[in-house]
Amino acid sequence: MATAIFGLKCEVYMVRASYDQKPGRKIIMETLGARIYPSPSQNTTYGQKLLKENPNHPGSLGVAISEALEVTLREETTRYSLGSVLNHVLLHQTVVGQEAKSQLEAIDRTPDVVIGCIGRGSNFAGFAYPFLDDKLAKKKPDMRFIAVEPTAVPSTTKGKYEYDFGDSAGMTPLLKMYTLGHNFTPPPIHAGGLRYHGKAPSLCLLINKHVIESVAYDQLQVFEAARLFARSTGIISAPESAHAIKKAIDEAIEARRMGEKRIIAFNLSGHGLLDLSAYEQYNSNKLTNPMYEP
Ligand SMILES: Cc1ncc(COP(=O)(O)O)c(C=O)c1O
Repeated sequence: MATAIFGLKCEVYMVRASYDQKPGRKIIMETLGARIYPSPSQNTTYGQKLLKENPNHPGSLGVAISEALEVTLREETTRYSLGSVLNHVLLHQTVVGQEAKSQLEAIDRTPDVVIGCIGRGSNFAGFAYPFLDDKLAKKKPDMRFIAVEPTAVPSTTKGKYEYDFGDSAGMTPLLKMYTLGHNFTPPPIHAGGLRYHGKAPSLCLLINKHVIESVAYDQLQVFEAARLFARSTGIISAPESAHAIKKAIDEAIEARRMGEKRIIAFNLSGHGLLDLSAYEQYNSNKLTNPMYEP
């Protein structure tokens, strides 16, 4: 959309698993004027290498970043834009949390628990960091922050906290983060936006210092929560956001069991109207439950 407004050409390296599972997103981007390549592609030497090793390679966010970087380095007039992971992108997204905080203040409420899903970190941090101020300034020291990831891609719950590359080919500067290793290819779960080996450095530091908790849920648990949420609210959530919904439901159940009042705020990062085939699979008991394989 930005390149359409500014009259620039746009090429998108879209993870092959998403390209196949979510054709609606591709159609929207093409309508806005972008050219979409499924990644890994034949356009880059890295993509060609991966396809030679495995013609059905599902791709990953790390592979797509490597391909986009290779094209950028090759072409003098091309520039590269990353949508998450880097700390400045997280700060850019804090417009979401600032708005949520103002809305809650307007009704005199402060959350006890703040929840979001994590793929690379931007929607969670964008929502949570403005609230985090109150915890760190000891205005609300007991406020809890929970980042939710898939068990199939357990960067913060099973990964190592160390320096790693942001992309699969190892072209980016090193980032200190929880990582499953830049060569890890996550299984093709429907929450394609959570298929990334690492997470944003500032988020990882806060998890490492136990300021933010993290948990993992599997695909079937997440879709069960998404369906319950749909039946209660009429909202079909993105599979990514459904990770946050699952944790919000669990928190509410626990609060009820303990007889506590708990204000739970979670970020619904996207709708699932382009993911209906995943819901169709879940509704007909055909959805698989891929597990983490190191
Ligand atoms: C709907 C939705 N939520 C969450 C994410 C996760 O990304 P991040 O952790 O960078 O917010 C994505 C990524 O594509 C997404 O599409």
